[in-house]
Amino acid sequence: MTTFEDISKEIDANTDLFIGRLREAVEIPSVSADVAHRKEVVRMINWTRSLMEQLGVLCELKPNGTQTLHDGTELELPPILFGQLGNDPNKKTLLVYGHLDVQPAEKSDGWNTEPFQLVEKDGKLFGRGSTDDKGPVLAWINAIETMQKLNVTIPVNLKFVFEGMEESGSEGLDECLKANRDFLKGVDFTCISDNYWLGRTKPCLTYGLRGVSYYTVEVSGVAQDLHSGVYGGTIYEPMNDLVWIMSQLTELDGKIKIPGLDKLVAPVTEEEKKNYEGIDFNHEEFRNDVKAHKLTRDTKHEVLMNRWRFPALSLHGIEGAFSGPGAKTVIPSKVIGKFSIRTVPNMEPKDVDVLVLKYLNDLWQQRGSPNKFRPIALQGGRCWVANHDHPNFEAGKRAIKKVFGVDPDLTREGGSIPVTLTFQELTGQNVMLLPIGSCNDMAHSQNEKIDVINYINGTKVLAAYLLELA
Ligand SMILES: *[C@@H]1O[C@H](CO)[C@@H](O)[C@H](O)[C@H]1NC(C)=O
Ligand SMILES: *[C@@H]1O[C@H](CO)[C@@H](O)[C@H](O)[C@H]1NC(C)=O
Ligand SMILES: *[C@@H]1O[C@H](CO)[C@@H](O)[C@H](O)[C@H]1NC(C)=O
Ligand SMILES: *[C@@H]1O[C@H](CO)[C@@H](O)[C@H](O)[C@H]1NC(C)=O
Ligand SMILES: [Zn+2]
Repeated sequence: MTTFEDISKEIDANTDLFIGRLREAVEIPSVSADVAHRKEVVRMINWTRSLMEQLGVLCELKPNGTQTLHDGTELELPPILFGQLGNDPNKKTLLVYGHLDVQPAEKSDGWNTEPFQLVEKDGKLFGRGSTDDKGPVLAWINAIETMQKLNVTIPVNLKFVFEGMEESGSEGLDECLKANRDFLKGVDFTCISDNYWLGRTKPCLTYGLRGVSYYTVEVSGVAQDLHSGVYGGTIYEPMNDLVWIMSQLTELDGKIKIPGLDKLVAPVTEEEKKNYEGIDFNHEEFRNDVKAHKLTRDTKHEVLMNRWRFPALSLHGIEGAFSGPGAKTVIPSKVIGKFSIRTVPNMEPKDVDVLVLKYLNDLWQQRGSPNKFRPIALQGGRCWVANHDHPNFEAGKRAIKKVFGVDPDLTREGGSIPVTLTFQELTGQNVMLLPIGSCNDMAHSQNEKIDVINYINGTKVLAAYLLELA
């Protein structure tokens, strides 16, 4: 009888093989944002496909469609890799999502090593895609391979969706999934490993993400930019109007001044508060990491709630404003202010838009400027929250306990992973985010890495999770 202990030992024994596999993957520069690298994305998908076929996964490349580039030319999107392992009607079915494309990277960006070579140093594996998301995708493959090697029956059917455009907004994915609804039929759970631990040492499971609603506010006054020495004092200046409007959106501590917005936010329950108290997080370290002088809240649970649980409004910039060094005495003729709101349950984007646009228009009335004013709500992304008392999360908690000996923290994130909501809506079933990388892996940044212990222990957690799901 093979025990989890045996699986764990076998995974340890294959550490070099698994690192070698990640090395091959990192060496394929599958940068989706760069048209010149499109072939590498397809190569990465093909490479993964052949690895999966060796495990007996039935693979299919789903066509893609095309992407319209800025210059109007059409470029084929990389195909999406669908896979299926097991089709036993008596078993539950797990859907696994991951992505095989990466962010751009050049050594000259400030990398200490070649980004598309895997370099092992002090227990860390440096290379673009090591943690986002090639390491986690390979951890699934490693886990399945190990179980098969030991003749351990995988107690669930598996379906896979691995895409190559995630870092470019998952272009084409929603359409492809909708066109292949049949493939998603019968899925009981979804698991996505494409985010990070809250800290460096304690594993977590993630059950919520904030959404985002983005706005632009355009103020225009005169036909062209003017000299302030000649025109200053004679005209109503668009930038003065815009800066005044933008200053009316939040209080000093970030509290949003848009009337009615707080009424959309789901009330915090006592139960929930308790969960926040137990989370392993030091807000003083969090403050110090970014060298902030002071945070807007001074207790752990309030800081976490402001990151994950409450909306936040940020100003991002002003298009048309002078921003170079030196003293330029221009009066911009037209300026566009940009801001966004990170949204939480139960803030529906359309309700948020109504309140925001009404407030902006009211402010404009109050301002009484003769200039032209045009507020616009750009497309918003919805937030996501899953029930973490669900068997999917229970299996994840037991798997982490088995490998690390601790109960994972239940976390949310302040940012967005739009596919999460897509899978929840298309399958109608629970989705869980199970990160294996650490908070300091530098995804999207220079010197991206995954720690060997995260990669190997992550492989163990995924094997344990497959066993626990049944
Ligand atoms: C990927 O695989 C497809 C289908 O087998 C093949 O037609 C294509 O040439 C391969 N592309 C690359 C870049 O390897
Ligand atoms: C999508 O990708 C496949 C495999 O690379 C390719 O054969 C096909 O022509 C592409 N486009 C469409 C629209 O299917
Ligand atoms: C698994 O099963 C195969 C075929 O029945 C057998 O040859 C192999 O020795 C078994 N491996 C283990 C680790 O039990
Ligand atoms: C796995 O995690 C445990 C507990 O944190 C740690 O002691 C161990 O070194 C890790 N092992 C491997 C092989 O990653
Ligand atoms: Zn990712």
